[in-house]
Amino acid sequence: MGKGSGFGKVILFGEHFVVHGVPGIVSAVDSTTDAEVTKTAKGITIKDERKGAKGYAEEKKAQQTESIERMLKTMGIEPQTASFSIWLGGNLPGFSGLGASAASSVAIARAIAEEFRMNLPDEKINEIAYEAEKAYAGTPSGIDNTAATYGGLLWFKKNMSGGPNTIEKISIRKPVEIIIGSTGIVANTKAMVEGVAERKKKNPQKYDLLFKQAEELAFMAKKALQDFDLRKVGELMNENHRLLQEIEVSCRELDHLVDLARARGAFGAKLTGGGGGGCMTALTPGKELQKRVAKAIEKEGFEVLRTKIGVEKL
Ligand code: MEV
Repeated sequence: MGKGSGFGKVILFGEHFVVHGVPGIVSAVDSTTDAEVTKTAKGITIKDERKGAKGYAEEKKAQQTESIERMLKTMGIEPQTASFSIWLGGNLPGFSGLGASAASSVAIARAIAEEFRMNLPDEKINEIAYEAEKAYAGTPSGIDNTAATYGGLLWFKKNMSGGPNTIEKISIRKPVEIIIGSTGIVANTKAMVEGVAERKKKNPQKYDLLFKQAEELAFMAKKALQDFDLRKVGELMNENHRLLQEIEVSCRELDHLVDLARARGAFGAKLTGGGGGGCMTALTPGKELQKRVAKAIEKEGFEVLRTKIGVEKL
């Protein structure tokens, strides 16, 4: 049997903008999707035991099948003749926005590589997971699979000419508490990414300006993280949420949870990931503040993940 894991992630700055070459900042979270792959005699079977938002696994089934086919082709395995069983589990919740699809692609690729004795380096696993991500996100930036493969706090910039992407580690003084709140709405990342591309094409002037602002914001956020100026990081997260509202990827439920987190003292809050449902995140340094914000969101019936950014070794 081959085994593998992939990290979940939270995008702190730049989702959607990153698809078009603007830099983004992402942190892995301390939860993983785990996979086990065992050779069998008849075709590919999947047993998905991940704990998820209601309907997550069903909603993503067709995209999952396509992603595994893409993955196998990239690994030089013919999907029609391949025969193995895949088990999926782990402690990463299947909330949209947490990078569950990329984490599962990395986990499966690692497990297949181990079962078929392929001995693949992380760079290759990341490449395979990127191909698989196309089934879920259409034209992904690569930020999710990169965080799922390497973990840590990362600066990411897609190379728009097809060359290697920029991936740099960001070091901060010490890990910082955040919360991730789930709206419980299963979102379709592919549709959200397509929607932004369409609106960008229709309103080039408006969108060029917003994309310029997102780029400036990413550089300021990197500096604020390196300076450990958490108040500034929070302010910039708020500003990032405003830009995401302007490109129409937020929704009522996300705005509500963002407002709630801010009202309870979060340093900053924004949607995270593809939007249109899925998750928001809030910067809540210290256990007390983290608890207060998490409780306020839970009290309204939403699920919350308490985690940290900037953990060196997950
Ligand atoms: C999804 O987690 C992040 C998006 O920016 C898509 C991508 O970068 O591939 C919406």
